[in-house]
Parts: sequence; structure tokens; C-alpha cells
Amino acid sequence: MKSAYKNLFHIEPAVGLLNDPNGLIQFKGKYYFFHQWNRFETTHDYKEWGLFTSSDLLDWQAHGSAVLPDQVNDKDGIYSGSAVEKDGQLYLFYTGNSKEEDQRKSRQRIAYSKDGRTFIKSDTVIETPLGLTEHHRDPKVWAHDGKWWMIVGAQTENNEGAISLFESGNLIDWTYQGLFFTDPLLEQMCECPDTFHLAEGVDLLLVCPQKRTPVTEDDLALGSYSGYLVGKIDYQNKKFLPKEAQSLQLLDQGFDFYAPQSFIDEKGRRILVAWMSRMTDEEEQQCPTIEEGYVHCLTLPRELKWQENRLYQVPLEEYQQLRKKQAAYHQQSAVIKNSQPIYELLVKFDNQTAPFTLTFNAGGNQLRYQEGQLEISRINWVSGENEMKKFAIDQLTSLQIFNDGSAVEVFINEGQYVFSMRNFCNYSTRDITYENLGHNGSIMFYTY
Ligand code: FRU
Repeated sequence: MKSAYKNLFHIEPAVGLLNDPNGLIQFKGKYYFFHQWNRFETTHDYKEWGLFTSSDLLDWQAHGSAVLPDQVNDKDGIYSGSAVEKDGQLYLFYTGNSKEEDQRKSRQRIAYSKDGRTFIKSDTVIETPLGLTEHHRDPKVWAHDGKWWMIVGAQTENNEGAISLFESGNLIDWTYQGLFFTDPLLEQMCECPDTFHLAEGVDLLLVCPQKRTPVTEDDLALGSYSGYLVGKIDYQNKKFLPKEAQSLQLLDQGFDFYAPQSFIDEKGRRILVAWMSRMTDEEEQQCPTIEEGYVHCLTLPRELKWQENRLYQVPLEEYQQLRKKQAAYHQQSAVIKNSQPIYELLVKFDNQTAPFTLTFNAGGNQLRYQEGQLEISRINWVSGENEMKKFAIDQLTSLQIFNDGSAVEVFINEGQYVFSMRNFCNYSTRDITYENLGHNGSIMFYTY
């Protein structure tokens, strides 16, 4: 059966439930994207690492299971983590989750591989340091100055969000170095931390603060979101030092974005991928793909750049190779006749002042820019109601919209902002309508 929702650009499982991207790496030339996976059902009751690989970030092969919860101390889930390469071996760092007499236990663990196919678990077990609760997960490992460093999402015994730091000389023996960062911004727990050097004098810390106290052990944190801080990794004092007082900045303005992870590829690009969901339990269980046996996808990989003193997230240039047909529009207002489900729109503005509107997916999505405010809407598939998010931008200069089978990503002003959302509408027409493009504006329309 041909699905109406299959995505071209977004990695999604053939069956089961996918969540966080894990262990992102380019190993021996190939891109490895592991991910949280329940291959049995579209629920969160089981977690292993699944794997996709690609040699060009366009054509992906699914390899099924990579790391399974088959040991006593990871029997209740191979939770999120990261990957590094050392001496031609791939090392995966993950959280082994287990419940012992109804108590959650988290242990940071290692699996390694020579061929990227067979993963052998090492005996290493990093226990939770004193002063932290068992909400200690999602290790991110990197190399700096001849040493290995690991940060882990944590919660202090006072129920404050924190990030712990470990150090190793050989990737196997790790010693606790104290808290890398803690702040009320991290709410009551911090999931999936990531930190890296991006540009001269600019290091980032990515965090996913969990907002509410989980009601049950398995509860997913729906009050959580993902953001970043700009600052410095202070290797001497083993702390992340944010630049002056700042609030967390959102990585994505849309409805569906969580648990991002970054890596550097062989071209030296810092690439970020996230789980494309922030659905409520109800939205998840009523997600139309569930009937087809699967749910969720990853976001497009984005290249991170630091320009004009701010973060830019740009779609990979590789995607341009997939463009098939193109058409240019310059009229103030027009209907772009279209029958293709998957396409890209590249809108360029020249000093836009008039209220610009773009309506697509049979009216299911509307984007509107007016007086320094951008609004983007979709129809919620549970309530059937229109829902909208809006945010302020000084000046709109461009929009690059990837309209995939059931996922939309909008890159605003060359990537100053990104807006991601899943989308399940009634596609009675694929035509696209726009109004008030403004003088010297242009729209390129590409099909795939
Ligand atoms: C984030 C998260 C991680 C955890 C994983 C479990 O979405 O809750 O903290 O490792 O998902 O699937």
C-alpha cells in the first residue's frame, strides 16, 4: 500500500516508534545515524538503538537493530547516547536503563565495533555519582586536547536539572569531574545535553530541560523543550560558562523538535539532527501513520554556522541534487499549480513591508508575515482545529520551505530561525497560493 505520509527527506522507521537520534557519526566515510527505537510497537514500552547509514546523506539504508536491551543492567532500555571513533573502532555510549525493585537505575555504558555492524558491549559501567538521582542519562562524548570528555543529563538530589562531567584518557576508564553546568534554566532535569566549539570564541551548550515532575517512571516529559546557551567550555575549571546572563534560546520555533544531537563530518561541518516530535500522548497515538505501523521521524540534518554574531542553521547543500523540476514566480500574487506532494519553495524578499501570505497543503498550512511578526499554522490532527505559532523577526529576507510527505521545515532568513512541524492534512489540492510578494521578490518552486 502506498502511504500518503511517507517522507523523502526525513528518516523514519518502516515499523515501530522512533525517537531521539543517537550516535551520530561519520565512520570510515559512511554516515551512521542510530536512533531510539521500539521495533515491536508504536509505544514507548521498549527501547533499543536502530541504525540507518548513508554515504551521501541522501540515500539511507535501514539496518534494523544495532544495540539491544539484553543484559541485566540495560534490560529496561538502551537509552540515548553518542558515538566517537578511536583507532578505527566505533565506540557507542548509551544509558543502560533498568528497574530494580521498582527503582530506576541508570548506568552509562559502552558498545564498540570494528565493522559498524556487530556491536560488542564492554564491561564498563559508569554508576551515577553521589549527589545525583538516577535520572542520569544520554552521554555525549567528545575529544579535546588528548583527552576524552563525557557530559550526561542529570538531576541533583534537590530535584534540580544539571549536567555531569566525566573525563577519560582511554575511553574505557572514566572519572567524575563534578557538575559541568547547573542552573534553574534546566528545570527539574536536563535530557540530551550536547556541547561543542562552533567558531572563534563561541562554544554552545544544547540542553533539553524537563519541566514537570514525571508522574510515573515511564512518563515522557511533555513539558520539556530544547534550547541552547552561548558561552565557553572551560576545560581547566571543568565548567560551561555562559556569556553574561542569558535565557535559553530556542533551537526551533516549530511544533515538533526535541532531543537534538550534533556531530562533525569529514567535511568539517557541524551537523545537527533532532527527533521531529513534541507530540502529546494523544497526538502520538492518533498520529495517522500509526495505522501503517510506524510513528515519528528525524528532522532534516542541518549545518550549524556562526555568522554576524548569531547561530544559523542551514539545510544541507546535498538536497539541491535531488531537485527535479523548477519554476520561477515574480508576480505579486499567484497560484502555483502543483500536483506533487513533496516540493521545496525558496522565497526571496526585497525589503518586504506588505503582509505576505502563503497557503499550502489545501489550506492546512498558512504562513503569514506582517509587521515584524511571522505566523505559521497547521491543522491539528486530533482536534481538527487550526493551531498557530508566532514569533518576532526584524526583517524577513528569505524563506526556504521543505514540504515533505508529512513533515514541513521552514528555514527563515537563510537559517536565522527554523520552524519544524509534522503535518497531516486533507490534501484535496496541492496548489500553493501566495499574496503580496513585494517588489523584486521571487519564488523558486522545485519538485522532487
Ligand atoms: C528524550 C529521552 C532521553 C532518553 C530517551 C528514551 O526524548 O527521554 O532522555 O534517553 O528519550 O527513549
